[in-house]
Amino acid sequence: MNKNTIIYFIAAVAATGGLLFGFDTGVINVALPSLREQLHLTPSQESMVVGAVLFGAMFGPFISGFLTDLLGRKKINIIASLVFVLGSILAAIAPNTNSLIAGRLLLGLAIGIVAATVPLYLAELSPKEKRGRMVTFFQLAITLGILLSYVVGYIFGNAENAWRLMFWAGFVPAIILFVGMLLVPESPRWLLSKGRDDEAKSVLNKLREPKEAEDEYNETKKLLEEEKNNKSSWKELFSERLRIPLFIGIGIFAIQQFSGINAIIYYSTDIFKQLFSDSDATIATVGVGVVNTLATILGMRFLDKWGRKPLLYTGLIGTAVCLGTVGLAFYFQDILPAGLRQIMLVGGIYSYIIFFAISLGPLGWLLISEVYPLKIRGFASSMGSFNHWFFDLMVAISFPLMRATSLGENGGIFGIYMLVVLLGLFFAKYVVFETKGLSLEDIEKKYK
Ligand code: BGC
Repeated sequence: MNKNTIIYFIAAVAATGGLLFGFDTGVINVALPSLREQLHLTPSQESMVVGAVLFGAMFGPFISGFLTDLLGRKKINIIASLVFVLGSILAAIAPNTNSLIAGRLLLGLAIGIVAATVPLYLAELSPKEKRGRMVTFFQLAITLGILLSYVVGYIFGNAENAWRLMFWAGFVPAIILFVGMLLVPESPRWLLSKGRDDEAKSVLNKLREPKEAEDEYNETKKLLEEEKNNKSSWKELFSERLRIPLFIGIGIFAIQQFSGINAIIYYSTDIFKQLFSDSDATIATVGVGVVNTLATILGMRFLDKWGRKPLLYTGLIGTAVCLGTVGLAFYFQDILPAGLRQIMLVGGIYSYIIFFAISLGPLGWLLISEVYPLKIRGFASSMGSFNHWFFDLMVAISFPLMRATSLGENGGIFGIYMLVVLLGLFFAKYVVFETKGLSLEDIEKKYK
């Protein structure tokens, strides 16, 4: 098989983890109406059903943090896929709310594991000039998963037991991930870090031209040799030497999540219902999914061409303008003509999604897969992923609460999200550094 075909096959399999991430987080948006009806959820049960996935995902990194470096990138993803299978079955057949919450917790756990391990697996398998694009496959898969969940919601919305059918739909990619993961190779860099040199060589030869394979082998070997006396433990992540990558893992996800992305991904239907009929609001939500996916494909083209920083600046400025527009549409709702208000709200939200999808979306997962040293990469990227879920949960819980206050009425929520994004400009300037075209080993040398 052609080397490029193998690489893209691996990317497709690994990215199925991203598809499940997007699907299982997005599906709740469309499953809730039927869940409310059939399980008679109280408001607190409802928030537990919604939050369970994010809560579970917060714990995933604690499992993957140690096991990714110990067992390898492949085995941990096989474990995650089995948890996905179990979680999907449990959620789909749940006889009562508690079993449903348990199923959603399991799904979250699996999402938390793949979010921490798939991007770094992809980064370690990619040739350096394609790394940005390859890791962004993961983000593309997340957006496809979200879109798929909205479409599944649209199709099954009126069926009896709609929510069960929606959760069953998540079972299919879980099985694909499991089977696919059995077929892909282990990361050559991880194999080298465990002294399994011959296996690493054979994987590299399958993926690279002979000269590239040899260079990559020698470079990683040399780096590991130099690091030999450098005792590696998880504590190193908090050392002076790794201050910048530590800040990157916290900062990029704080900005990504507090830019309010999931206020839209999880609650867009509610927002659109203020403007349109129920069924039009659902269609507008499917539109969010489509725009998100298409813009991510656009972003993939530019990450390795323009570099990470220019895209980050573009995305931050663009999202700030859009969030400001949406905020103003709320603030001046009484004096704006209805047509203009609609354009500002829908146009603002759709354009926000475009700017997010070319920058903050892919960059979060990309940066945490590439800025940490090999020896603690699994642990460090898991901690980055933990930050993501923690901030995500905060936004998911606070958005409906804030909406019920004057901040919801006057668009202040979007003003807050805009301020966060503007602060992100300092982060982009002073903390993030350009990784385009550098090998993972070149990046690691920066911390010596
Ligand atoms: C974020 C998710 C978000 C998605 C939207 C991802 O990068 O991690 O929280 O829902 O982008 O496309």
